[in-house]
Formats: sequence, C-alpha cells, structure tokens
Amino acid sequence: MKKVLVTGGAGYIGSHTVVALVEAGYEPIIVDNFYNASPKVIDRLELITKKKIKCYNVDCCDASKLDEVFKEVKPHAVIHFAGYKAVGESVSKPLMYYDNNLTSLLKVLECMVKYEVKNLVFSSSATVYGDPKSVPIYEDFPLHVTNPYGRTKLMIEEILTDFAKVNPDFRIALLRYFNPIGAHESHLIGEDPNGIPNNLVPYITQVCIGKLAKLRVFGNDYKTHDGTGVRDYIHVCDLALGHVLTLKRLDEVTDSLYIYNLGTGKGSSVLDVLHTMEKVVGHPIAHEIVARRPGDIDACYASPEKAFKELGFKAKYDLYDMCKSAWEFQENNPDGIK
Ligand code: UFG
Repeated sequence: MKKVLVTGGAGYIGSHTVVALVEAGYEPIIVDNFYNASPKVIDRLELITKKKIKCYNVDCCDASKLDEVFKEVKPHAVIHFAGYKAVGESVSKPLMYYDNNLTSLLKVLECMVKYEVKNLVFSSSATVYGDPKSVPIYEDFPLHVTNPYGRTKLMIEEILTDFAKVNPDFRIALLRYFNPIGAHESHLIGEDPNGIPNNLVPYITQVCIGKLAKLRVFGNDYKTHDGTGVRDYIHVCDLALGHVLTLKRLDEVTDSLYIYNLGTGKGSSVLDVLHTMEKVVGHPIAHEIVARRPGDIDACYASPEKAFKELGFKAKYDLYDMCKSAWEFQENNPDGIK
C-alpha cells in the first residue's frame, strides 16, 4: 500500500482528501499542528474510514521533527495542504503568512530531497489568476496576486517551478482550486471555521442556524447575470478525488511539473447560492445588499478541460448537492467539530 504524507490533513480539504485516499487504496499519514483544525477530526476520519489513521502532531516549519516523520514514514508521495489561508488576516499579518507558508513548503521539500520522496501535490488556488482577463480561466492565463495569502501561493508555485527544472526525476503537480464548499456525506467532517466565517457558504449556514443575523451580499453591481459576484463552487469531495487522480497521474508521467485547475467550469452568483440554500432549508434566508468587499472580482470560473483530458477529472456534484451537504454538516455540528 503506497504511503502518502498529507500535511494539513486535519483541515477542511485535507481531511476529505484523506478519506478519498483510503477509498482509493492508499495509506494516508497526516502531519498537522492543529493550529486551525480540531484533533477530533482524526477520530472522525477513523469512524468514516473504519481504519486507524496515523497522525503526527508536528508543525511543518519544525525541520527536525519533520525530518523524524520522513525518516519513519518514508512516504511514496506528499500532498502539501498545510498553510494559513485567510485573505484578510494575511493583509494585516503579512510576515506571519510569508514565514509560515513559505517555510513549511521549503522544509517539506528539503525532506523530500533528503529521503528521495519524489512525488508532490501542492495545494494552490485560483487566487493566483487575480482579476482574469476573461472567463473561463485556462491554466496558461497570466498570473497576478493582490494580497499576501495569494502571494504565498504564487511564490510557492514559482519555487516549485524552479525546483522542477533542475530536478527532472521529481513529479510535481500544482492544483489550483476554485471555491470548495460542502461536506462529506457522513456529516462528520466539513468546513469548520474559527470565529465569524469569511467565506460565503459557511456564513450562510451560520445564518440558517441562528448564529448570525443575516447574510451581507457584497455588491450587486458586478458585471454578472444578476449583479452579484460569480464563482466556481466545487464540492470538497470532488476536489478530494482530484488529488487521488493527480497522484495516479504522477506515477505515469515523465515531465517534472504539471498544473491543473480544479473547478466545475460553472459559475454561480451569490444570489444563486443563496436561493439554492433557501431550497435546501425550505425557508427564506435573511440578507441585505451592502457595499462591495475590497479586492473582490466580478467573475471567476475554471476551464476544467485540461484536468478532464489529462486526469479524467470531472466534478459530479451540483450546487444543490453542495449546499445540502454544507447545511447538513452545520446542523449536525452547530458548534463545529468539538
Ligand atoms: N460574499 C458575500 N458575503 C459574504 C461572503 C462572501 O457576498 O459574507 C461573496 C463574495 O463577495 C464573493 C463570493 O461571495 O462574490 C464568494 O466569496 P468567498 O469569500 O466565499 O470566496 P472568494 O471567491 O472571495 O475566495 C475564495 C477563497 C480564497 C481563494 C479564492 C480562489 O476564500 O482563499 O476563493 O478563487 F483564494
């Protein structure tokens, strides 16, 4: 059984990917410092998979502890999710973002070189496209970032591109996620933000459960079909499967660097999401239109063609499925994963 080291494996996308890896016959091993995830996630992963999930409570920036993990595990591949991810916080604490996100990647890469672990999947983001010249967005579009969080993603893409050029025996994939939402069908794992959510769907589910008064729709004067911002929402379980397909692909290919969008190719507006969630919960959801949020763009959705052609990746869940699973996770975990 191939061992896959999953950094940040207790987090939102990481935990769903751990489930997908077990289902595909891999042995995932988690490295997480639980800065932004509950240790209970591990128990829940064991309930879902009916397997013991090995987990190291280690910060990837801690070179000597990470070295011990690599020495002990000797994984076949690494999926690197670990990192800070809040756009607003990255603007107020840029050094914290550069230090954590870049250091952890460098330490992981150094261990990979030392222990000859040659397959790496990196968790990048559609944020690297900035405000795209048109939609859908193709992988060869120009890159442009507007905040320190996005800049860490772009810098890591550049570091890995430089590294891949001189390490032709490595197989590296950069996965640019669009907007992951939803939760595993067990409702045991899902998006579990600290404090008031920044992102649309967890905000709406917290309005539905009565924790927040109403959704603020950030602007209705965008150049979109109803004036509200359009994004490519993708079910986190579809996204998780994308990682498994990428790992398989890395075992077959000969080049050292691959880049894929992981999205559905379909754009939905804030009001589309809100109205779909209203169908799921069966009642209107309180909301008001307010000013635009600085830094937001009109529309962002993927061309999913390359990932389909080369990985066989195709999202199977629609917006209703995504909203339903997000709501069911919230209902079953009103205070998050405790
Ligand atoms: N929105 C609201 N009200 C809210 C929250 C969001 O109207 O309370 C709107 C936003 O203006 C935007 C849409 O809902 O139009 C989606 O916003 P999110 O904050 O959920 O997601 P973003 O597209 O802004 O950002 C997400 C991730 C980033 C990642 C980016 C990649 O949060 O980390 O997708 O495209 F970089």
